[in-house]
Amino acid sequence: MIYKHLSLLSGLAILGLTAAAPVSGPGVKPYEIVPKRETGPAGLDGDDPAIWIHKKDPARSVVITTSKEDEDGGLHVFGLQGKSLQFVPAGRPDNVDVIYDFEFDDDKIDLAVAACRTDDTLCMWKINKKSGLLEKIPGGSQKTPANFTVYGSCEYKSAKTGKQYVFINSKTSEYLQYEISEKDNKLQSKLVRRFMAGNGGQVEGCVADKDNGWLFIGEEDNGVWKYDAEPKAQPKGTLVDSVDVANGGHLYPDVEGMSLFYGKSKDDGYLIVSVQGINAYNIYERKAPHKYLSTFTLIPGNGIDEVTETDGLAVVSTGLNDEFPAGLLVVHDDHKTFANGTKAEQTTFKYVDFRDIARGSDQKLKLNPKWDPRQENDDEEDEEDE
Ligand SMILES: *[C@@H]1O[C@H](CO)[C@@H](O)[C@H](O)[C@H]1NC(C)=O
Ligand SMILES: *[C@@H]1O[C@H](CO)[C@@H](O)[C@H](O)[C@H]1NC(C)=O
Repeated sequence: MIYKHLSLLSGLAILGLTAAAPVSGPGVKPYEIVPKRETGPAGLDGDDPAIWIHKKDPARSVVITTSKEDEDGGLHVFGLQGKSLQFVPAGRPDNVDVIYDFEFDDDKIDLAVAACRTDDTLCMWKINKKSGLLEKIPGGSQKTPANFTVYGSCEYKSAKTGKQYVFINSKTSEYLQYEISEKDNKLQSKLVRRFMAGNGGQVEGCVADKDNGWLFIGEEDNGVWKYDAEPKAQPKGTLVDSVDVANGGHLYPDVEGMSLFYGKSKDDGYLIVSVQGINAYNIYERKAPHKYLSTFTLIPGNGIDEVTETDGLAVVSTGLNDEFPAGLLVVHDDHKTFANGTKAEQTTFKYVDFRDIARGSDQKLKLNPKWDPRQENDDEEDEEDE
């Protein structure tokens, strides 16, 4: 179904005017935030970021972004000030995620993982512990089935079994769940589940909740769905929120990237979703039934231009440095707009201080700056006692 104001929106989009004013609609009233930093040029067709947290010195954490153009596509690595640190050519990586503490060669290493569209592979790199830069790793390219065309992806480490998984989807709503492990100092993958998700529409963004064992996926023109992330579970979806704003939905297509802000317990935290149709971002409670809380939009300021048509995003709750002491949100910006009004060919990514997100929301948001992605959730036992 297309709503009247949505066709008006797409009309504006054709004219390149969507960013002229933040748009509110039934169900959402975005509040405004100015980003603090932006990256340098991040490729012609950027899409999705991931944030890697440095184990010893969070101020040396990095942002990894995908650029999915045919030629010159790959992964960019940026520092917390937005400075480019590295570019690694790759075959149209779509969505990137970080895997922490992966058992490899009697060590625990961190990995960057994406689905590469040029050769329909699961593509992985080792993240250097000290520099955050990407390095090749044996077995870093894993084939998908012959009839499969890869698109989005996200990682899931099961708190139940400790096993590491990656979900990869096709545009036609089919999901592959791979278990990733090491054998003879080489990465290997095993297909453990294959299922259809959503209502058959195009899917891309996804994020897993490792403590609760959930997989959230975005069906671009329909809504956000939730599935059990364990490989043996029935693939039965629950619709978390929809684009049906006339009937209580809070989304405007496309539903794009999503990421999880981990709170202190497995009930605390937030799901952040890119609502591309109105250049805004929705916040939901992490705990079921994932109540909608608020919507914000990003406006120009701090010498940073407007942010439009966000595909991917990534959020962490960890305090990283003085500028981002209580979490960081990184969002894709379709194109940079120069002060003279012309649009750059290159994508950039914008960095948002999570305190600004918490301050502006009319709902109280709880921060968790001590979050350590390498630590298991130690509230598990308390929860079971209740
Ligand atoms: C691909 O092949 C598998 C196994 O033969 C089959 O179950 C699946 O439906 C096929 N998918 C497509 C998109 O053709
Ligand atoms: C606008 O500014 C950008 C960046 O400074 C510059 O590269 C571009 O040539 C300018 N375009 C015009 C039409 O002035």
